[in-house]
Amino acid sequence: MSESTRTLVVTSALPYANGPIHIGHMVEYIQTDIWVRFQRGLGHHCTYVCADDGHGTPIMLKAEQEGMTPEALIEKIGEEHRADFRDFGISFDHYHTTHSPENRACSELIYRRLNEAGHIVRKDIDQAYDPIKAMFLPDRYVKGTCPHCGAPDQYGDNCEVCGATYSPADLADAVSVLSGEAPEFRSSEHYFVRLADFEPVLRQWLASGGLNGAAPVQPEIANKLGEWFDAGLQDWDISRDAPYFGFEIPGVPGKYFYVWLDAPIGYMASFRHLCERRPDLDFDGAWRVGSEAELYHFVGKDIAYFHTLFWPALLHGAGFRMPTAVFVHGFLTVNGQKMSKRTGTFVRARTYLDHLDPEYLRYYFACKLSGGIDDLDLSFEDFCRRVNADLVGKVVNIAARCSSFIHRHLGGRLSARLAAPDLHREAAAASDRIAALYDAREFGKAMREVMAIADRANRYIDERKPWVLAKDETKREEVRDVCTVGLNLFRVLMTFLKPVLPRTAERAESFLRSGGLAWDAVATPLLDHDIARFEPLLTRVEPKKIDAMVADSMESGEGSAPAPAPDVGTEERIDIAEFAKVDLRIAKIIGAKLVEGADKLLEIRVDIGDGERTVFAGIRAAYAPESLVGRQVVVVANLAPREMRFGVSDGMILAAGPGGSDIWLLGVDEGAKPGMRVK
Ligand code: 2FM
Ligand code: ZN
Repeated sequence: MSESTRTLVVTSALPYANGPIHIGHMVEYIQTDIWVRFQRGLGHHCTYVCADDGHGTPIMLKAEQEGMTPEALIEKIGEEHRADFRDFGISFDHYHTTHSPENRACSELIYRRLNEAGHIVRKDIDQAYDPIKAMFLPDRYVKGTCPHCGAPDQYGDNCEVCGATYSPADLADAVSVLSGEAPEFRSSEHYFVRLADFEPVLRQWLASGGLNGAAPVQPEIANKLGEWFDAGLQDWDISRDAPYFGFEIPGVPGKYFYVWLDAPIGYMASFRHLCERRPDLDFDGAWRVGSEAELYHFVGKDIAYFHTLFWPALLHGAGFRMPTAVFVHGFLTVNGQKMSKRTGTFVRARTYLDHLDPEYLRYYFACKLSGGIDDLDLSFEDFCRRVNADLVGKVVNIAARCSSFIHRHLGGRLSARLAAPDLHREAAAASDRIAALYDAREFGKAMREVMAIADRANRYIDERKPWVLAKDETKREEVRDVCTVGLNLFRVLMTFLKPVLPRTAERAESFLRSGGLAWDAVATPLLDHDIARFEPLLTRVEPKKIDAMVADSMESGEGSAPAPAPDVGTEERIDIAEFAKVDLRIAKIIGAKLVEGADKLLEIRVDIGDGERTVFAGIRAAYAPESLVGRQVVVVANLAPREMRFGVSDGMILAAGPGGSDIWLLGVDEGAKPGMRVK
């Protein structure tokens, strides 16, 4: 690809600073990072910024629940996020926070300009209010009975049973999930952006030819936008009442910018912070209308709405350029299912890193990614197969095989000539095709092209059989020639894989001693050149490490939801002495309540005959707390107490079932009394 140097600003969505990064998030960061590394590799000036999304009600409440200030919470989580991204090789130029002076300044500026241009309106709205917590409640913090189908325990915005959408005031028996009290409905003044003002410019933006005539959004998203336009753009509520963790609206005490206003502005603020430290970057140059810099946002399909309607409208309304493109991707499933803590497939980034090499996941996601918005599946079996068969078996193995002959018999020096120039030329000639695929985010197709070259390289080595030639001393130069071709093909392959496998590529660079693997150098072979001794560049995935990662990701640390029943072979059975160690007792539930911030847990107080205990159990979806009081259950009384985020769980309540709402407590007949041993 020959073209002049472009200037790109690239972002990934800002993760909320109230929870850990998981492998579902990593799809996007890996996708963006591969694209960014590819663009930089072509010599373009590409800046990749991101930040933690630090504002909003959930963060405020989580901090309260953890007994810390929101500032301390987002600081702590921000550090964890940074470490996760660093260890996955995500090459941000800067990772900021939305709770920053730069973001306050940018948010205030954008708001002021919108206001001055008449795009902000004020309206009184009625909203659920928790009289105990003295705060207005977001819709998700109100639960009750669906007004359409009568399903109990539904959120205030929509019913998960019949799909109806409504407002919290429509729910029957509404309660605040924070206090359990019935909410009041109070009126307060809110600030809105009149999105309809921007419909013409948004339509124009969508029809614009972006870079090289490419549309700024994928066809599926353009269709969706068409539907939203047809339905009519509603005013967008950008204010929230105190108490709220965010930026106060200038001149409006007690009212704050809604987190979704200042979150995308966080892209701009992160870049601004970086510009103050990097003289090669130009903030105004990148964000002014008509800028030649390209601006790209990578986001998941759940937040396409915010990035293709609200964000371009905010930018335009405040006199800034609009994005060149918003690249939307699908969600991750694992082994064909939604990620789940119960099955250990909800894997945190850190848990993955504790067991497996990040390069594996980068490669696997690359194989599965396209420029579309379809979901992608991580199948652990396929993961092992692709990494072991493709990366280790086909690519790394070329280097391992060839370098051993070159070092054993030939002083570690490559031939001065290339014995199979056509083969090398053909491999290098794929560079334009592969570059076009990377540029279009068709990484899966790019990986297939790369592996086809690896197949040809292995076929060449298999045909020339250097291990046979090496036995004949008179054929040593032939061995050198064959291995020189093999190692040059390996170099081409690693150049093509470098955006996906930065660490392996770095090790390959040291091994080949040829400086950085550069895209524009693939056609020039490495000849008459000393190479280093081979050190393993990447080892095979061991399935037992995946098992260990899954075990570490199981929900067991979060409560007493049972794990799926194992197939019990004779060798896995326990003997009677081991069983006798388990102190199973009848207990009576004397109190039960919700645990703030834990979707699945109940805090349960039990009487076990000789005293009372508190146990946390993951049965919230199956049992309302009040329905439990007075019931007799079976508990493991001698389980070591477990320190959980919400307190200490002292024992375990036995239940059966696959999880979620399908869990049944093991009951006992009348007559059994608290404290009785279960035999
Ligand atoms: O959905 C989310 O996780 C948001 N925190 C994403 C924000 S992206 C951007 F707009 F800031
Ligand atoms: Zn319903």
